[in-house]
Amino acid sequence: MTVPRHIAIIMDGNGRWARERNLPRIKGHEQGAESVRAVTEACVELGVEFLTVYAFSTENWKRPAAEVAALFVLLEHFIAQELPTLMKNNVRLAAIGRLHELPDTCQRALAEAIAQTAANTATTLILALNYSGRAEIIDAVQALCADAAAGTLGDIDQDAISARLYTAPYPDPDLLIRTSGEMRLSNFLLWQLSYTEIHVTEKLWPDFGKDDLRAAIAEFNKRQRRYGGL
Ligand code: FPP
Repeated sequence: MTVPRHIAIIMDGNGRWARERNLPRIKGHEQGAESVRAVTEACVELGVEFLTVYAFSTENWKRPAAEVAALFVLLEHFIAQELPTLMKNNVRLAAIGRLHELPDTCQRALAEAIAQTAANTATTLILALNYSGRAEIIDAVQALCADAAAGTLGDIDQDAISARLYTAPYPDPDLLIRTSGEMRLSNFLLWQLSYTEIHVTEKLWPDFGKDDLRAAIAEFNKRQRRYGGL
């Protein structure tokens, strides 16, 4: 079986999971954090090198302020709580997005955990936070223009763009998983997903576990990737 090097996940359905149980939405996000824990562990067990999860999009600021605040509190708790496990499992934490716009406490917790886990060599868990594909491309274009103004810009080719994206250090995802049945990209990794295989499951993210990840990888193995060739 081929194990994808890089899996990206759109973690959708936390709100529906909570509504089905008459719980506040944040309970769905809390349970969703448990799924992040389980899936990260499965990636370590299977030898997946990179796992990118869409935890907060630039559009998520439009949600009620209480939900936004609760998501950041949850994220800080997750980082603090998970750090020993990340170390034990040799997981390296990373983040992509406009991180400087996150609450200060969140930025600090993130920076500390990223620094502490920097030398770990199993899976890299990449949190997409205040992320959107279009914002990332805008930031890359600005970097290109700055280099042009400084007279240091070479050819503008695919490598020149990729090198200026937040994901520059990582390979493009091989497999994108989206939970809760929606068939859209929602502004996630727009450049990087060009040749990625897509797996959509009806399962809501809080119900998604290790077996579901294995099933997605098994389905991925049936695909023939041609990258536009024959
Ligand atoms: C989408 O579900 C999910 C989010 C916007 C947030 C994702 C956050 C987590 C899984 C928890 C925190 C993450 C980490 C890394 C600890 P939705 O609320 O849009 O669900 P709905 O479409 O059913 O309403």
